[in-house]
Amino acid sequence: MAPRILIVEDETITAHHLRRILTRLGYAVVGVAASGATALEQIAQSRPDLLLADVGLEGEIDGIAVALLARERWETPTVFLTAYSDAETMRRARVTEPYGYLVKPFAEQELHATIEIALQQCGLEAARKQRAQSTNHLLVRTQEELNTVTARLFSAQEEERERIARDLHDDLGHRLALLQMDVEKIRGKLPAAIRDENKMEFDDAITRIGGIADSLRDVSHLLHPSILDDLGLEVALRRLCEEFQARYSIAARFSARRVPSHIRASTSVALYRIVQEGLQNVAKHAGPAAVNVALIGATTSLKLSIRDTGSGFDQESEKSRVGLGLISMSQRARLAGGTFEIQSEPNAGTQIHVSVPLESPPGNQE
Ligand SMILES: Nc1ncnc2c1ncn2[C@@H]1O[C@H](COP(=O)(O)OP(=O)(O)OP(=O)(O)O)[C@@H](O)[C@H]1O
Ligand SMILES: [Mg+2]
Repeated sequence: MAPRILIVEDETITAHHLRRILTRLGYAVVGVAASGATALEQIAQSRPDLLLADVGLEGEIDGIAVALLARERWETPTVFLTAYSDAETMRRARVTEPYGYLVKPFAEQELHATIEIALQQCGLEAARKQRAQSTNHLLVRTQEELNTVTARLFSAQEEERERIARDLHDDLGHRLALLQMDVEKIRGKLPAAIRDENKMEFDDAITRIGGIADSLRDVSHLLHPSILDDLGLEVALRRLCEEFQARYSIAARFSARRVPSHIRASTSVALYRIVQEGLQNVAKHAGPAAVNVALIGATTSLKLSIRDTGSGFDQESEKSRVGLGLISMSQRARLAGGTFEIQSEPNAGTQIHVSVPLESPPGNQE
């Protein structure tokens, strides 16, 4: 199909001349507009592939204004025709990003070449835009799929951990308690002389069984913090900080303000896991440090911060990208409908800020 061109020219003779040449060159002339206003009407109606527009049109809307509106509203490209090529006109015309600029009088071949280049360029540009658009769609879809997969993974992981924690606690824990009772019962049945002779061994065995039961309980709580379900996020986080301080001898202070009594279970788990990973990172990477964890309720959101005074790190470095902890923290925050920010610099500590909405995020209702 022949490319469709609108001529925007107020000199009748020139316009007719152009129409004749363009037709001879094989283009379809969709019309001739003698004013800016008429040109805009015709573009809207016939949606030409190209405008051939005189810069110096009479009236309020000159050729440059027409070209600008045509590009903005309909993405129609323009080749300018002008009798003068002064710097100011050129500067104004450049703003419209024209595809060509012809100074009158021009030769037919010159007109032909300029139009062909303009049409080819805007064809290429349209194809590039289309490619960019489909890449963009693909990217959005991939991101959505990734979110779904991550959400499923997190919830499958929590369910699995909960199951293992329950088995450890209920089954192994129960059997250990029975074993401890059995040992004590056997000791009771032994003659006093033998019992006294082996007192230390018996005490040691019973203490060791108790120790194993304690470790089992710790592992089971780490796997699934049942305290979250029983006593809520604030208590669970306070306990987590206390245990962290006792285990690693790193000062861990917890503070909470205006924490609402009801927080969605999935949000509680997300924030709990974020603090767990944040503290783990302090122990693993921050060196000598103190850490502050704060949970603050606002009108519609819950804000969590984890700040340490340790070594900090360069966020641009390769090393900071290899782990999964930071990624999983930010994914958890995002899946809870919230935001995750981290600030860190070498020798300036690390600060993590999370904000999650208190109402259900869209598509993630409970
Ligand atoms: N609190 C912190 N203080 C100092 N450096 C940190 C801190 N948190 C994270 N980093 C740096 O950022 C990197 C990435 O942390 P991330 O938690 O993602 O991975 P990781 O802890 O190395 O491994 P993973 O968490 O997967 O076991 C760490 O290797 C460390 O260099
Ligand atoms: Mg980590």
